[in-house]
Amino acid sequence: MEKKLEELQQEALEKIGNTNEVDELEKLQVEFLGKNGKVTGVLRSMGNLPPEKRPVIGKFANKVKNKIEKELQTRLQELKVQQEKARLAQEAIDITLPGKKISRGRLHPMQLIINQLEDLFLRMGFAIETGPDVETDYYNFEALNIPQNHPARDMQDTFYVEGDLLLRTHTSPVQIRTMEKQAPPIRIITVGKCYRVDELDATHSPVFHQLEGLVIDHGISFSHLKGVLIAVTREIFGEERDVRFRPSYFPFTEPSAEVDVSCFKCQGEGCSLCSRTGWLEILGAGMVNPRVLEMSGIDAEKYTGFAFGMGLDRMAMYKYQIEDIRHLWDNDLRFLKQF
Ligand code: PHE
Repeated sequence: MEKKLEELQQEALEKIGNTNEVDELEKLQVEFLGKNGKVTGVLRSMGNLPPEKRPVIGKFANKVKNKIEKELQTRLQELKVQQEKARLAQEAIDITLPGKKISRGRLHPMQLIINQLEDLFLRMGFAIETGPDVETDYYNFEALNIPQNHPARDMQDTFYVEGDLLLRTHTSPVQIRTMEKQAPPIRIITVGKCYRVDELDATHSPVFHQLEGLVIDHGISFSHLKGVLIAVTREIFGEERDVRFRPSYFPFTEPSAEVDVSCFKCQGEGCSLCSRTGWLEILGAGMVNPRVLEMSGIDAEKYTGFAFGMGLDRMAMYKYQIEDIRHLWDNDLRFLKQF
């Protein structure tokens, strides 16, 4: 019987040594040490032995049992460690590989100009106002002293929505909205889209952007206007580009002026871009017409003010030397990535 046990021990240890799977180990456990297992079987048959032999064999059988049990546990641990290692190896990440490139977006050239101008005006103490794109005839024209039969109202220029609603043709209605709700002193700018019936070409777009400014207080004069606008052109175009004020006409300002910067393409020599004048127009401005002040409930005897409206798409083109306005809105990344 001892021999039999020894053989069983031998067999079990061999099998355990050759196992590579945890469930196989479990099977071996059942095969040798289970209720109907081989070692258990031998122990059970001990009843047939003479009594004096029983303790000796019993002791030996227990040794065998413990030995097998211990080997099973050791092998189990080994396999677990192996499995863990294999899992880690499979999940390993090579941190020396180059990372995936995240392509970051960037600001549109129009937004860059808007940010730069808003910063400048905020530094000069201006507040930022907003107004609707869909306006009434009153705010877009009437209150700005643009009478019923003025050519600016022509169906050719204005997108009419319905009734007396239209798409604003400029940001000047925000002047009126501001004067109606706020008493002087007023110092605001507003930025937004404007709409005019225009064929899209290199220099025209039916949707464009303006920045409007309005200052109203005691004793505001044209020299204040000049000071502010010169600060603006310096900020955007630097000191090198020349600036000129040219007399002009707007129904809502008197006197009125237009402001030009020297052409970036020909440096003022005269070329196709500037229609051979050497100058590019960037904004309209003037002293707020007293009739406009009175219509919005501001005492023109006490207060004076100036206003200006600049075309931001043009400004962006002239600043970044873009020769076709359509580039700004084509959303071609090769273009946009340059800014
Ligand atoms: N609203 C005018 C335009 O769109 C520009 C302007 C604004 C002129 C304010 C004078 C004062 O052409």
